[in-house]
Amino acid sequence: MTLTGSLIAWGKLSETIGSGAITFSGQQIVNSLVVLGILGGAAMFCLNPTDPNWLYMVIGLSLLFGVMAVIPIGGADMPVVISLLNSYSGLAACAAGFAINNNALIVAGSLVGASGIILTQIMCKAMNRSLSNVLFSGFASVSNEETVVEGEIKPISVDDAYYVLEAATNVAIIPGYGMAVAQAQHVVKELTELLEKNGCEVSFGIHPVAGRMPGHMNVLLAEADVPYDQLLEMDEINPRMETVDVAIVIGANDVVNPAAREVESSPIYGMPVINVADARTVFVLKRSMASGFAGIENPLFYKDNTRMLFGDAKESIGGLVREFS
Ligand code: TAP
Repeated sequence: MTLTGSLIAWGKLSETIGSGAITFSGQQIVNSLVVLGILGGAAMFCLNPTDPNWLYMVIGLSLLFGVMAVIPIGGADMPVVISLLNSYSGLAACAAGFAINNNALIVAGSLVGASGIILTQIMCKAMNRSLSNVLFSGFASVSNEETVVEGEIKPISVDDAYYVLEAATNVAIIPGYGMAVAQAQHVVKELTELLEKNGCEVSFGIHPVAGRMPGHMNVLLAEADVPYDQLLEMDEINPRMETVDVAIVIGANDVVNPAAREVESSPIYGMPVINVADARTVFVLKRSMASGFAGIENPLFYKDNTRMLFGDAKESIGGLVREFS
């Protein structure tokens, strides 16, 4: 189940297969029949251990169940699913440990199983959703229809952004998936140093599901030697946002989407986000008006205090670094 479930999760994340939820009528019934088949086959194999056909049946149905369990889950929920599948693989290892009487396998399997479940729980909490809601609601099969956005886009050039940053005394950087795509972490670190040299206080706001894997942003920033105490979790940075002169959103979209707070009909309504719109000025660095992973509009881009700095994040930040130096 973990094997085929992970392959489907990979296909959805890489968009080799569509990232939307795949559902069909009678899906629950088919899934229930598959589970019954697995349980029945397992029972028959225990009764007739010399007949391997029952075992082959259990293996085949489990492979099928992995596919069936993951296809109805939308792409944006894949991190939770991957973590859950990880946990299952730990449980399988643990069970194998009991079967062959191997303590190391039991202990290692329990640790993997428990940590996977804990991580799953943390991610569900970060998105303000229950596990059953993630597994059974098809979150990412959403469209943009629900979010009506008002206002206009106000682009800004690197030169003008530099003048605003030069005068700022408190800057918050909110990285997202786009920073990873652009591999902009090293230039971000350079910009941080130049801002600090200019007398500015710089902090980073890290959303628990920013990027495409747990801890994605922490790993990238650690690679660029950004000091750990500069990284603030969402709950720490949100109350300070009103005192921030400039919030620089680098390739983040869903994790700063105010629709999660303001638009009740939005599919991400209730998910905690970083409240960048509370800062005096917001710079959003991205290449186009394309939506993020959840595929929904972002009203942040149209707010009065938001300026869009279009372009590859590495090039835009590189431009700012050149202006400073
Ligand atoms: P997203 O909402 O996916 O937005 C990323 C943005 O980066 C896009 O809007 C894209 O806009 C921009 N971008 C891409 N390449 C860029 C580049 N080279 N330079 C500048 N910008 C670039 O990212 P997020 O805000 O980090 O949110 C994460 C999403 O992924 C959530 O929906 C979350 O549930 C989901 N997810 C999270 C995980 C974990 S555990 N972290 C795993 C899987 C999925 P343009 O195309 O216009 O540039």
